[in-house]
Amino acid sequence: MEKLDAAFWDERWKNKETGWDLNAVSPPLQAYFETIKEKDKSILIPGCGSAYEAEYLLQNGFENVTVIDISAALVQQLLNRLSDYAGKRLTVICGDFFKHTGKYDYIIEQTFFCALEKNKREAYVTKMQSLLKEDGRLAGLLFDKEFEKGPPFGGSKNEYLDLFSTELEILKMEVCLTSAKPRLGTELFFEATNKTL
Ligand SMILES: C[S@@+](CC[C@H](N)C(=O)[O-])C[C@H]1O[C@@H](n2cnc3c(N)ncnc32)[C@H](O)[C@@H]1O
Repeated sequence: MEKLDAAFWDERWKNKETGWDLNAVSPPLQAYFETIKEKDKSILIPGCGSAYEAEYLLQNGFENVTVIDISAALVQQLLNRLSDYAGKRLTVICGDFFKHTGKYDYIIEQTFFCALEKNKREAYVTKMQSLLKEDGRLAGLLFDKEFEKGPPFGGSKNEYLDLFSTELEILKMEVCLTSAKPRLGTELFFEATNKTL
């Protein structure tokens, strides 16, 4: 299989092969953001892609949003599109999530986990644990189906429960009823926190 590295993702962005792109903030994530009352909470969105979620947060007054993506081509587009916020309330990082360091109140997942080779899943959970503040939350969406050929790579609720509970305490993992139309019935919404609490 092709290596899913920066060059792979750069090609996808340059060729506009971005079938995952919702072109709008994801409805379940928008609803989740509306539950966060303190606008100064630090929020990380890894593998952010077009970052509509970050844009929504910024338009709604959030003060400390960080996005990271491995594709330089995409990051350049983001810096242009979100220039009003970048370097102020928004930090835009071009780099590998697995090398990122920091501590966040919230980390948001959407079609990033499924974009990684399955053999990176344990490292993903370990990294998330290390990036969460003591009472931090990892929240977002996971596919509740398998795909013939990835990316995306799918999975199931039981598989995710086993995987995430090795390092995190799972607060919620349930069928998502408010997914964007093309994904309705195929996603789980989950929320997890640091197990070391
Ligand atoms: C399927 S896209 C999803 C984009 C966005 N989350 C969304 O929902 O529209 C996966 C994204 O993750 C990025 N990516 C893949 N591996 C990465 C890594 N190791 N570190 C940071 N970003 C990565 C890709 O460049 C791509 O933009």
